[in-house]
Amino acid sequence: MQKLEVLGANKLKGEVNISGSKNSSLPILAATLLSDNKVYLNNLPKVKDIETMINLLKSLGSKTKFDKKTLVVNNYKQNKNFASYKLVKTMRAGILVLGPLLAKFGKAKVSLPGGCSIGTRPVDFHLKALAKLGVNYKINQGYIYAMAPKGLIGSNIIFPKISVGATENLIIAATLAKGSTLLKNCAIEPEVKDLVNFLIKLGCDLRWVSKRSIRINGVKNLNRINYSVMFDRIEAGTYLVAAAATEGDLMIKNVIPEIMKKEIYILKKIGAKIKLKKNMIHIVGKKKIKNINIKTAPYPGFPTDLQAQIMVLLCKANSKSLIKEEIFENRFMHVAELNRMGAKILINGNKAFINGNTKFAAAELMATDLRASVSLVIAALSAKGKSIINRIYHLDRGYENLEKKLKQVGAKIKRIN
Ligand code: EPZ
Repeated sequence: MQKLEVLGANKLKGEVNISGSKNSSLPILAATLLSDNKVYLNNLPKVKDIETMINLLKSLGSKTKFDKKTLVVNNYKQNKNFASYKLVKTMRAGILVLGPLLAKFGKAKVSLPGGCSIGTRPVDFHLKALAKLGVNYKINQGYIYAMAPKGLIGSNIIFPKISVGATENLIIAATLAKGSTLLKNCAIEPEVKDLVNFLIKLGCDLRWVSKRSIRINGVKNLNRINYSVMFDRIEAGTYLVAAAATEGDLMIKNVIPEIMKKEIYILKKIGAKIKLKKNMIHIVGKKKIKNINIKTAPYPGFPTDLQAQIMVLLCKANSKSLIKEEIFENRFMHVAELNRMGAKILINGNKAFINGNTKFAAAELMATDLRASVSLVIAALSAKGKSIINRIYHLDRGYENLEKKLKQVGAKIKRIN
């Protein structure tokens, strides 16, 4: 089992190039199943989850190959509609092949993703909405058996709660449905917008008709296209927090600052100095970190995927802070580990009360999920001494070249077997 050894404390200084978005690449890769034409995808991050999704596509009969940095996906002979537990259990986003498989074949057998350390991660919103498009489904031995005997038929659907995955699955499914579909109360994360832009370029007929409503008219033919996925705003936010937590000075490159308004606003309130340039964010961390209360929310609110990271920063603030986790029911797995490093955080339900004025002490730590793991790296970077972080396979799921990028800005970090 590989570990990370981090020697803190040191200030991160220099430039970081942000990779493509994991959470945009995953639905777009699933959506390639819609087309019999070749799809050329650029800027995919080299992370485990993308590799897993490509393996899932291959298990469905897709032909994929990298031509330098471009992934070529050829679904011309793709003819399987069974997504196995083996692949879906390690990457919950595997559920996103359900919509395209139903759109293309009218039936699919897809493993229920199962939960993970941040929550039970149900897919009831996906299934109930697909039923509105004429899908009959039953769940048996951990698999979803879904059938659309008359093919998918357009309908009006209102999601009971904002869900990124359910929005993405239904948008993809509706692109080949007969007639028109109106989806309301959609998630509007930038990654959802990126998927919509991809589908429009692919030849699908869809457009946003209000802030959270989208109309999709079924089409028959799709184009051969070349598409570059957007930047990873969570990776970018992670490096912004790391700079603020280490009194660093980082230039974050290949980003679109206006997509990160909320994160930038919060970091400025905490005291970081931030300057925005066309595709860059320059951040200088200050010694004095001001306390603040934050709650996570669907976009454009503060992203739940940055909650663990910002908590590290608030541990160093000059007074008490409160973080309310409004999206997932169990996304405080990092708290116990941070408290072992000297933090004073109290959990009550979905609220984390953070005492502040923490001087992190190096320790041996256990990573539990992707974003919790990187919060431990940030804490270790600002702790005096040598920290060891175990189970770093969680990190490899979503951060491309993490050690390399951190080393380039002065971190003393290495992977040990
Ligand atoms: C996506 O997960 C992201 N994953 C998550 O990022 C992110 O945290 C989440 O959206 C929220 O922004 C990908 O895009 C691959 P949801 P998703 O459906 O789609 C409940 C990371 O670290 N819900 O918006 O699974 C659900 O349990 C990952 O990169 C239902 O109850 O999130 C949660 O409480 C972690 N029934 C809430 O809704 C459903 O059918 C929001 O979930 C679906 C969701």
